[in-house]
Amino acid sequence: MNIVSISGSPSLRSRSALLLQLAQTRLEAHAHSSHLIAVRELPAQALLLADTQSTPVQRAVAQLADADLVIISTPIYKAAYSGLLKIFLDLLPMDALRGKTVLPLATGGTLAHLLALDYTLRPVVSALGARHVLDGVFATDAQLVAHTSGGYVPDDSLLERLDRALQPLLAHPVHASRPAALERAA
Ligand SMILES: Cc1cc2nc3c(=O)[nH]c(=O)nc-3n(C[C@H](O)[C@H](O)[C@H](O)COP(=O)(O)O)c2cc1C
Repeated sequence: MNIVSISGSPSLRSRSALLLQLAQTRLEAHAHSSHLIAVRELPAQALLLADTQSTPVQRAVAQLADADLVIISTPIYKAAYSGLLKIFLDLLPMDALRGKTVLPLATGGTLAHLLALDYTLRPVVSALGARHVLDGVFATDAQLVAHTSGGYVPDDSLLERLDRALQPLLAHPVHASRPAALERAA
């Protein structure tokens, strides 16, 4: 299973990035390869001007093309996924997720936006061709407690929900429906 993780938070110290890292770490034993695309580390000029020729952007697109599983993690901003993530998704070819399985993750300040992943991110990844969008995991800030070291500590209930969400992937590691190289040549 080739895994690509996309972090859509603009923050260096990021709850949603930690949630992503927790998921990635749990799946690593089943992964043939694992790459992280931290959108905040891509060149701002390339993102804002939709420069698909930028080398770091092209590298990210190529990593995605080879992925079987794409884990997307975002903070909820204004009841939707982050604008930073949107800018990145807008750079992708229309079939960038064709045949792939997608696991959405999000963190937000309030449970009121629990469904934001379903009504904002799910339609976009489906439009990009995702074959299967797994049930996502939404964590509130209170479930990722700030630690004096500068990081965050997940509470037990969040870890349980994350493990449940990952269970289908651990039981049956996914493979994109066609080899990525054939997909690109088509
Ligand atoms: C500009 C902005 C808008 C936000 N809007 C929402 C929101 O609409 N709903 C919500 O639940 N949390 C909202 N939050 C809180 C963040 O989603 C939350 O703190 C999240 O865990 C941040 O993730 P990060 O640490 O990965 O950046 C907002 C935060 C910011 C900075």
